[in-house]
Amino acid sequence: MLCLTLTGSTLEEDRSLVIRNRKWISLVELRVDFLLPEEQRKASLFPSMVDLPVILTLRRVCDGGRCTMGEKQRLQMLYDIAKGDFSYVDIEEDVKKAELKFKEAGTETKIDFENLLRMRNIRIIRSYHDFEKVPADIYGHISKLAAKGDIAKIAVTPKSMIDVISLFKVQQELKSIKDKIIIGMGDFGVCTRILYKKCGSLLSFCTDGTQQLPAPGQLCAQVMSELYRSDKLDEHTHIYGIIGNPVHHTSSPLIHNPGFEAIHYNAVYVPFLVDSVRAFFKLAEMIQIHGFSVTVPHKRNVQPYLGRITREVKQIGACNTVTRIQNMWKGTNTDYYGFLAPIANQLAQGTIHTALVIGAGGASRAIIWALHNRGVKVTVINRSLEHAQSIASETMSTVDSLENCSHYSGKVDLIVQTTSVGMTPNEEGDPVPALRFSGKEIVYELIYHPRETVFLKRAKSAGCRVIEGRDMLMEQGKLQFEAFTGYHYPHWINPKI
Ligand code: ATR
Repeated sequence: MLCLTLTGSTLEEDRSLVIRNRKWISLVELRVDFLLPEEQRKASLFPSMVDLPVILTLRRVCDGGRCTMGEKQRLQMLYDIAKGDFSYVDIEEDVKKAELKFKEAGTETKIDFENLLRMRNIRIIRSYHDFEKVPADIYGHISKLAAKGDIAKIAVTPKSMIDVISLFKVQQELKSIKDKIIIGMGDFGVCTRILYKKCGSLLSFCTDGTQQLPAPGQLCAQVMSELYRSDKLDEHTHIYGIIGNPVHHTSSPLIHNPGFEAIHYNAVYVPFLVDSVRAFFKLAEMIQIHGFSVTVPHKRNVQPYLGRITREVKQIGACNTVTRIQNMWKGTNTDYYGFLAPIANQLAQGTIHTALVIGAGGASRAIIWALHNRGVKVTVINRSLEHAQSIASETMSTVDSLENCSHYSGKVDLIVQTTSVGMTPNEEGDPVPALRFSGKEIVYELIYHPRETVFLKRAKSAGCRVIEGRDMLMEQGKLQFEAFTGYHYPHWINPKI
C-alpha cells in the first residue's frame, strides 16, 4: 500500500491532495499538526470527506512534527479527533497507558482510549522515530511496539549501507510480526521506501510532490507508483539498481523502469546510495539483486568482488555494469560500446582517423580505449597534463594542454567533450572557447544536462554533426538493459531523461 501523507493547512486542501493523487494511493495519513488551529478542531470530519482509509496523526516536534502543545493537551486533542471515522490512530511509543485515560463531559468514569479504539476496530499504530540513526536494538524495539497486537512503526535514519542492511533484515528476523511499518529516512533510506515490501513493511509513505516534505527522503506518489511500481512488486520481482555516491541525480531509473514495464518484465530498478561497496554486495546477496549499474565513485571499487570481467573492463580499469551469472558477479563496461554506437557507421566506413578528446577523467578512459581499439589516432587535451599522461601512454595517444586547443581547429575528424565544464548549474561554461570548428568534424558531448551545452551549440552553428550526451546515455543504458534482461530495449518508448 502507498500512503499519501497530507500536509495541507486546511482540510479542503488535504482533500484536493487526495483527489490529485487518488489513482496512485491506497490510504492517507492526516497530519493534524500541519493544519491551522481552526481546522484542527474540525479534523474529525475528514474521513467523511474522502473515500480512502485515513490514519490520524498529531505529531510532536521531537518526532519531526509541528505540534507544540503540552503533552496532556495534545493527547486530549487526539482523543477528541479520533471520534471521527478513522481507520488507524498513530500513538507514539513512549506515551504511557495512564496518559491515555480520558473523562467524557458529564461523567466521572475514565475511558481507556486504547480499548475504545480496539472496540471500534480502529487499529493503533505504535510509532518510534529516530532522525539521527538506526538504533542498535532495532528488532527488540519493533517486537516491543507490536507486543499488544498493534501495528509497530519505526521511522529511523540509516547513515550507511550497513544500517540499510539492518532494515532489510527486519523481515527475516521478525517474520512472525505481520503488521509492521518500516521506514528508512534520509538519502540512504530511499531504497527501503521503494522496496518497502522487502523490509516486511505494510506500507510506504509518499508525498504529493508539490507539498513540503513531511519526512526526509520521501518520494512523491506518482514516482513511487508509476516509475517504481512499488505497490505492485512481489516475491518474484527481479531487483536491479544503480550504486553511487551521490546517486539521487541519476537518470538511469527513468530508462530501465519504463523499459521493464513496456516488455512486461517483472523487475524494478532502484537507486542505492552506497558508501561501502563491500556492504552493498552483502545486501545484493541478501535480497537477491540480479544486476546493477555502477557510477562515480565505485567504477573501480567493485572490481575485487567480480568473478569475471570483460577485456574492456580490464583495459579501462572501470566497470559500469554488474550482472549475476551462475552465482558469480560479472563486470562489463557499456560506456565503451554505448559511446561507439552513435558513430558506428563512420567507424565502419573508415571516415574517422583522428580524434581530439577533451578531458582525462573517469569518463574519458572508456572513450579513449574505445577509439584506440578502433584504430583512431587520439589526442587528449586536459587542464592538467599529468592526469592525462597515464591513459595516453597506455593507449599510445598524444597529450596536450587545454590552452593549446586552438591548434586542433579543423585538424581532426572527431571531437569528444568529456569534462564537466558547461554542466547544469554552470551552463555558461565552455572548456575550449578558442577551439574553432570547420563544420566537417563530428562533435560529441557527454554532458546531458543541459541537453545542448554552449560547446555543442557552437559546433552546431558551425555546421558540424553533433551527438548529444543523451545519445550516449541512452545507448549505454540500452546495452545494460540487454545485459540485465536478455531482451532488446523496447524501441517504441522514449524515456523522459
Ligand atoms: P568523470 O569521471 O565524470 O570524467 P572526473 O574524473 O572528475 O569526472 O574528470 C573530470 C574531467 O574534467 C577532468 O579531465 C578534469 O580536468 P583535470 O584532470 O585537470 O582535473 C576536467 N575538468 C573539470 N573541471 C574543469 C575545469 N573547470 N576546467 C577544465 N577542465 C576541467
